[in-house]
Amino acid sequence: MKNQLVIVVDFGGQYNQLIARRVRDLNVYCEVVPYYKALDEVKNKKPIGIIFTGGPNSVYDDNAPNIDKEIFDLGIPILGLCYGMQLISKTFGAVVEKAEKKEFGKTFCIKDKDSKLIQNMKNETIVWMSHQDQVKKLPCGFDLIQHTSTCPYAAIENEEKKIYAVQYHPEVNHSQEGNKLIQSFLYDICMAKGDWTMQNFMNEQINKIKDTVKDKKVLLALSGGVDSSVCAYLLSKAIGNKLTCVFVDTGLMRKNEGDEVEQAFKNQEVNFIRVNAEKRFLSKLKSITDPEEKRKAIGEEFIRVFEDEAKKIGQVDYLAQGTIYPDVIESGLGDAKVIKSHHNVGGLPDVVDFKELIEPLRSLFKDEVRKLGLELKMPEYLVYRQPFPGPGLGIRVMGEVTKEKLEILRDADLIFREEIAKAKEDKNINQYFAVLTNNRTVGVMGDFRTYDYTLALRAVTTTDFMTADWARIPYEVLDKVSVRIVNEVEHINRIVYDITSKPPATIEWE
Ligand code: XMP
Repeated sequence: MKNQLVIVVDFGGQYNQLIARRVRDLNVYCEVVPYYKALDEVKNKKPIGIIFTGGPNSVYDDNAPNIDKEIFDLGIPILGLCYGMQLISKTFGAVVEKAEKKEFGKTFCIKDKDSKLIQNMKNETIVWMSHQDQVKKLPCGFDLIQHTSTCPYAAIENEEKKIYAVQYHPEVNHSQEGNKLIQSFLYDICMAKGDWTMQNFMNEQINKIKDTVKDKKVLLALSGGVDSSVCAYLLSKAIGNKLTCVFVDTGLMRKNEGDEVEQAFKNQEVNFIRVNAEKRFLSKLKSITDPEEKRKAIGEEFIRVFEDEAKKIGQVDYLAQGTIYPDVIESGLGDAKVIKSHHNVGGLPDVVDFKELIEPLRSLFKDEVRKLGLELKMPEYLVYRQPFPGPGLGIRVMGEVTKEKLEILRDADLIFREEIAKAKEDKNINQYFAVLTNNRTVGVMGDFRTYDYTLALRAVTTTDFMTADWARIPYEVLDKVSVRIVNEVEHINRIVYDITSKPPATIEWE
């Protein structure tokens, strides 16, 4: 069964992914399509509804993004947001002009007419505005349904043609009843059935993978991270032992991590290969102290190890990757040919001989990937794993990486993670780990002088990992961590807490 589809037409607005997220959260599948491909896509895919996004342009700019009028004659309900509203208005003969001043922020919005679109919203509701241009005259065939004190046409409709438009951003949380508007558009105007559920998605993908793969072989580079792990569970459910997962244990993983990944996969009906490559990696890292050189050495060795394993398996027909939707959107919409090099194994496709790529998570957002993981009955610790860099502890041991330093770091990091979990602080913090600095200082333990390493603790709150703030961990928790580490881990006699945000620092230290 094919899901009902809503097409989000991308005019370059900053909230486009958010609109898609909101629609999917309401159990309707949707795809983001660039405006210049929209008409063809709509004719091809026959969506139940279309949403025009906002965008940075003015509809009167030279080369302003536009769309063929034909889209309004297909009988498919359309909702225009911000730029989308201005474009619809201009197309239907209204005047769009620069407002006296840019309107940005929350504002009261007042109902003028009870329309299907806003039937579940209060007469007076708070909405989020972010625009310079606005509609100055009602377009032909449209009625006013909402206004604000500075925006005379905040929402309009042409009920007969099922075209609706709002100047504000219902997809942004600050619009208090924005979700109700989107829900009414989907369910009362587009007559959505709400058939986008993870269970449906899972079943569809399983059938699709079975049909594609038939009796051929699939190879997956498994890092143990969320995306590749979910990908492995999904493929395993679809094709069982036709899948081979190669998990390279670099020796740079956290305490027990290699065993945990193995544990999670070895009982699945897949061929699971764990390559214990610690010696290879440590010998490549010998004497290297520069962070970039370390990263490069680790990345290259990863490819060599994977290549060696792939050779043993022989010709593979398909290489599977855990590419997800934000990667697809960011690497150029609609350009199906863009192949993302895996986060942790950059450039793999170039060195492995395969015929085709399989990317079953291509249409999912990160939290949908986690939902799918739960649907596939993956253990929760794998599903909710925090991000871990490809080069692993190699970039959390400052200076030269040695087995001894790695052991010290692993033990200290485990205590930090245990105490954070015990204090239930892991719900508030997005990433937290220990770093072994290359600094040694004098201390005193019992009656003895010590001269040992300084350990740094790093914990951040962030949504996108591009910017981050240091986490305000309660002093008592930090105290417990500190006492336990100096008592239980040899060669650490001092602990510091990193209180820099990103920027100017980065999350990792190297
Ligand atoms: P930075 O240190 O750049 O880290 O602030 C941002 C986020 O990215 C993770 N990170 C990596 N992830 N391969 C990865 O897969 C890498 O080489 C890498 N380096 C940093 C880091 O853990 C944080 O979540």
